Amino acid sequence: LLFLFLLFLTFKEVYLLAVKSGYSRAPSLQPGVAHKYQYIVEVLMEHASSPTLTGSGFKAEATLKTFVVWRNNSNLEEQLIHLQIDEVKFLNISEREENKNIFKDISADALLGQENVAALRTPLLFHWNLGKVKGIYSPEETNTKIQDFKKGLVYLFQLQLYSGTVTEVDLSGKCRVTYDISTDKVKKIKDLHSCQKPKFGFSSVTKVFDVDWQPTSTSHYSLEKSLIKSVVAEESHLIVLNLKSTTSAKISSRQQLQLLSLEQGPAENSEISLQETLTGLPANYKLLDANATSAKSPCTDCPLLRDYLKILNKELHPADISRASATKLFLKLVQIIRESRKKEILHAFKKAKDPIIPFLIDAITAAQTEASLSALSEYLDFNNEVHELYLEKFLYASAFSSHPSKELLHILMNKMKGSIANPEIRDTAVIVTGALIGKMCKMKLCKSQEVEDAKEFILSGLEEAQDESEMKIYLLALKNALLPETIPLLLQLTQEMSGAVSVVALSALQRFPAKYINAEVKKEISRIFHQNYYEKSVRLAAVEILLSNNPSYMDITNILLAIGEIGTEMSRFLISKIQNILHTDHPSRKVILEVLKDRLLHNYDRFSRTGSSTSFAGLLGVTQDTVTTYSLDLFFSDSGFLRKSTSDFSLFAHGYHLHASQV
Ligand SMILES: *[C@@H]1O[C@H](CO)[C@@H](O)[C@H](O)[C@H]1NC(C)=O
Ligand SMILES: *[C@@H]1O[C@H](CO)[C@@H](O)[C@H](O)[C@H]1NC(C)=O
Ligand SMILES: *[C@@H]1O[C@H](CO)[C@@H](O)[C@H](O)[C@H]1NC(C)=O
Repeated sequence: LLFLFLLFLTFKEVYLLAVKSGYSRAPSLQPGVAHKYQYIVEVLMEHASSPTLTGSGFKAEATLKTFVVWRNNSNLEEQLIHLQIDEVKFLNISEREENKNIFKDISADALLGQENVAALRTPLLFHWNLGKVKGIYSPEETNTKIQDFKKGLVYLFQLQLYSGTVTEVDLSGKCRVTYDISTDKVKKIKDLHSCQKPKFGFSSVTKVFDVDWQPTSTSHYSLEKSLIKSVVAEESHLIVLNLKSTTSAKISSRQQLQLLSLEQGPAENSEISLQETLTGLPANYKLLDANATSAKSPCTDCPLLRDYLKILNKELHPADISRASATKLFLKLVQIIRESRKKEILHAFKKAKDPIIPFLIDAITAAQTEASLSALSEYLDFNNEVHELYLEKFLYASAFSSHPSKELLHILMNKMKGSIANPEIRDTAVIVTGALIGKMCKMKLCKSQEVEDAKEFILSGLEEAQDESEMKIYLLALKNALLPETIPLLLQLTQEMSGAVSVVALSALQRFPAKYINAEVKKEISRIFHQNYYEKSVRLAAVEILLSNNPSYMDITNILLAIGEIGTEMSRFLISKIQNILHTDHPSRKVILEVLKDRLLHNYDRFSRTGSSTSFAGLLGVTQDTVTTYSLDLFFSDSGFLRKSTSDFSLFAHGYHLHASQV
């Protein structure tokens, strides 16, 4: 034991000697020395789509003074650093006309305000251990924006001197960071997509409506032994709306740190602990949260809901709802509701004029705060016929919600467990529940209690349905929910139920991505198509699934062989469908072309079928970012009656697909 103890002491001595003689495991500052750095930060925001527009932003130049306040006696690379911004000066970053340049000949005080500049110059301390920032301490301060700015500066000092990928905490959250080391140089790349941080804002479940975010973050350090001589850190964020890429922004920043001089500085403390050092300081230093103070955008100049309602009552006329002015009023209302309490919202329902109430319901369903949903739940009466218009509004708004919450689903479930006077409203509520389940599963909330309850509600509703029309409603809900675990059930219902129900079950199956329609499912569906026993509309629904889920050579051959054997109109419809595919870049086009090389299948007899049934598709609109398509299927009975018509509208944007509507 004694031997081990001596060995330990020797190791410690050797290590301390190594550190003192310049060997470094981590960056550090020299004790007793004040290090003066020049700090330059540039922030620029541009319209990514029109580079000719001048961006906005600023450049700031400052000097920094840093020195060691405390260090660990037995680990010289654990230090408490004092950091203070000295002189600071703001400059324009983009070309400006002389008379529009607010940065020209102006002091920081005049530009930012004395208080902000004072906050900027308040020193802070950071605990630096083996290159990692373990804590940032600041005298009590309420200016969180300035504090975030300074935290960003401190994290420039976070680096390690060995290559590899690690997880690090900084202002961006807990992120994956890759270090690449060469002599006296360190390259640090932060993967901003990997960062875990408190949730802020939301995005749309529907990718077509979502934004695309492309961030980058790279820093270059140059060191001399353990001393940081210079840093250049660049970060950029490109944000683009998928639906309209001209609505986009690029925000970039560049921070630069350059060692200017080393001067005599205050002596450090190493006899006492870090905590004792902190409490011994004259100012009251508090540990700051590592995260950026929530970037929540406050509702700027927002009136109280009560006052805003007066404006709405006066300015919003039902005939104007489709105008841009109404959209602006709506967005503001959503923001105000997000800040309002339940009592205020209930009060608003009392004071709102009749035509404003649906508008208010829409806004609450979009705002989705706990207070607003709870108020809405209390207000809406599912047994009141007068409320029917409102109920419909609420249900549609829920179905179209960009990011439904558990609370929203909870309200809906509660209402459905009670009694609902109008059966149509009840049916709509069931279908909307399915849509909410589908969206929430995409948001990875599929296993939450609320969603599980809702699934159970739909499945038991389907099981207990009294008649076919009720069954169809629950099946439509399942079609919206798109739960892979229900595929066997849908298949079973397709085979056991009458044509009307089977068709709905099949149309639900058709919505699943191809990966869920496996060989076994395909075999069943193929059997349905080829058996006379099933109604024609069911068989056609089956063949559509086959055609759109990677059909094999054999599948196509069998479908083509059936033409002529399956009645005039059905044959005509199938030919129309196949010709349609051949005119587009449908994924099945290639295999169909391959099969059609066979003269036995591709001949006049087979392809000259007459009839009224038809299927066609086309473009409705094309923009730089989107393609909107429509398709219309008309299927007639052999005696000339229209049996079924289906129209679909779809939106494609940057590889994402939205099935917008089906009638
Ligand atoms: C800042 O504005 C001045 C005009 O006041 C202009 O001459 C100068 O080029 C601008 N600086 C930058 C970096 O664009
Ligand atoms: C800071 O972020 C982490 C996630 O990286 C989180 O666990 C923590 O709760 C956040 N702190 C605050 C105060 O939001
Ligand atoms: C100093 O560093 C050693 C080794 O890393 C550690 O065990 C010890 O707790 C530190 N001392 C103080 C006072 O922080």
